[in-house]
Order: sequence, then C-alpha cells, then structure tokens
Amino acid sequence: MLKPKPSIDTIQPYQGGKPIEEVRRELGITDIIKLASNENPLGPSPLAMQAISESATQVHLYPDGNAYYLKEDLAEYIGISAEHLIFGNGSNDVLQLVAEAYVAPGDEVIYAAGAFVVYSLVTKLCSATAVVVPMVKHTHNLSAMAAAITDKTKVIFVANPNNPTGTMVTVDETAAFMEQVPDDVLVVFDEAYYEYVDRSDYPQTLPYVLEGRNFVITRTFSKIYGLAGLRIGYGIAPPPLVETLNRIRQPFNCSLVGQAAARAALKDTAHVTRSREQNTIGKAFLYGAFDDMGLRYVETEGNFIMLHLEQSGADIADKLLKEGVIVRPIGGYGYPNAVRVTIGTQQENEKFIDALTKCKDLK
Ligand SMILES: Cc1ncc(COP(=O)(O)O)c(C=O)c1O
Repeated sequence: MLKPKPSIDTIQPYQGGKPIEEVRRELGITDIIKLASNENPLGPSPLAMQAISESATQVHLYPDGNAYYLKEDLAEYIGISAEHLIFGNGSNDVLQLVAEAYVAPGDEVIYAAGAFVVYSLVTKLCSATAVVVPMVKHTHNLSAMAAAITDKTKVIFVANPNNPTGTMVTVDETAAFMEQVPDDVLVVFDEAYYEYVDRSDYPQTLPYVLEGRNFVITRTFSKIYGLAGLRIGYGIAPPPLVETLNRIRQPFNCSLVGQAAARAALKDTAHVTRSREQNTIGKAFLYGAFDDMGLRYVETEGNFIMLHLEQSGADIADKLLKEGVIVRPIGGYGYPNAVRVTIGTQQENEKFIDALTKCKDLK
C-alpha cells in the first residue's frame, strides 16, 4: 500500500470517549452513563431541540456555507462584527484550519505537555516540529512557552481551561505572555470551556483580537450549549485572518440543523445558567466524595475533573465500565495513573462514586 507522508505515520488516531451503544453491545450492560467526553449532562436546550425538529424539513438543502444568520446572532451576542467570526465542524475544525493555513513543514508549533491532544495532531498533519513545554502544577507555563519561541515559531496553542487537567492561566500571566510574543507568531487561545469559568482572574482575550494581534480564540457549542453531536464551533479572529481561514474551509462545514440549533441555544441563556449551576453543584459533590475517599484531584475550571489514582487509570476505567460508567483514561496525555471524569447530573455523579467505591483496590 502507498505510504502516507512521514508525519502521518506518527499520528495515533484520536481516542474519543466510548459511545454508550458500544459498551452496551460489547458488555451487555443496559444501565450505562457516559462521563467521558465533557458533554453537558442536562442535554441540549429545549429551544435548540425545537429548532432541530423544525429544520429537519429543510435538510435536502445545502446549509448556508457562510452561516449568515448564526454569524449575525453570535456577533451581536459577543459584541463584535460578523467579519471576526469563522465557524467550523466543531472547534476542532477551526484548530485544524489554523494549522493548515499558517504552519508549513519545518515550522515550529508550541504547546504544553498535557494540553489538549488536537494541537499535536494538527502539528503532525502539517509536518511541523512540535515544541512541547512542560506544565507546572498541571497548568500551562506561559513564561516557559514564551521562552521557547524561536524565529521558526509559527503558532502557539493554549487551552484555557485545559483539557484534561481543567486548569487555567490567569489574566496577568496572559498579559505578560502576550508582551513577549512577537508580532509574526500566531497565538490560539482554545476556550472550549469558556462559559464554565467563574474565576475573576480568568483572562478576557477578545481585546487581543480587536487590537488586530495575530490571535485566534476558539469556542464551541459542544460543551455548555449541549450540541456536541451537531458539531458547531467557531473562531474569533481579526478579519484578515478570518478571510484566510475561509479560503481553505470546506464550503459547507457547518450543517443546516447545527446552525439552526446553535442560534436557538444562544438565545436560551436560562439553560446555560442552569448548566453552569448544575456543574458547580456537581463539582462540589465530587470534590467532597474524593476527599472522603482520600483521592487526589486537580481543581477544575471546566466541566470535568482529573482524578489521580495510584494505579493504572486504564484499569480503573475498565472496572468502571463493567459497572456501567464510562470515564476517560488519560495515559495518552502522559498521566497513566489518572482518569478524567465529566461532572454529570447528581444521579450520575452518585452512580460514578458508588462504582468507584466498588473498584476496591483504590488508593
Ligand atoms: C480544550 C478543547 N478544545 C476543543 C475541543 C473540541 O471540541 P469541538 O470540536 O466539539 O468544538 C475540546 C473537546 O473536547 C476540548 O476539550
């Protein structure tokens, strides 16, 4: 068979959370909860569901490739102009577009060890050199990342908050970092969990875009908006960058149903508030349960928690699977003795803790 280009040989396929159906099929278990992909446990907004069924009559038509109405709505919501927005088939799509547009073979791309895996995938895809900077306390070390910049650096990815660690960089760290980044380096702040963060020292990065810096913010409808299955994410960037990304975007990369659902979800601020509140309650419950069990965890700014175990995370994930609970082992992120668990509904969190307690040889 024809060999792919050398950089592709080094890519491991993305490992998503196991779908419920697969576990049902393989293990014959019926009562299953999935806490493995940081989805919204409350599901989509009822307004989004209504928009989905209404738009079903139109799916013989191609979507508006330019997502005109969604763009207008979102621009107004954020307080920017529509020219600052690009939509993607999930925000992953936008991350990939950025790399494809700006990173050439031999260029350097900086990201953190233990950062969201897609940065490494897209770097390899572009046959570029990954400059992987260690984290400190499971958190991006922005000063070390700035120090890693060379004249070959093209793009720097920062997940804020990061998946799977759940940690964030602060406004002061970000400001100091941005002062050190040269004008010809593109900074991407991946803010997939933006809406969950409630810390006052969380950086608002929009000014970097509005100042015309080489800066892209990515966000998504997959997380708090509960639309992961419809694949709608977006980038916020200075208009010339958006114009570049638009040249290589698949013409119909956002589905008609997804666009309709996202517009409705945006309007349902009560659902977003409820989801955030539910997450805060669930987080406190899980922290309490972990404390009671003497388990170490990383405090999170997102809707998931990284849990340290003194044994293989993959083994514990397997045991939990047999109890009908899907969590994510994160050995691939360099944490072999940890799992990541999504904060669920109260019922799901209780089921998870019961199952974890049953997996006896926990330390
Ligand atoms: C940090 C981070 N960025 C981006 C994404 C991609 O999400 P989507 O492509 O669904 O928008 C995820 C999904 O898990 C994530 O955790």
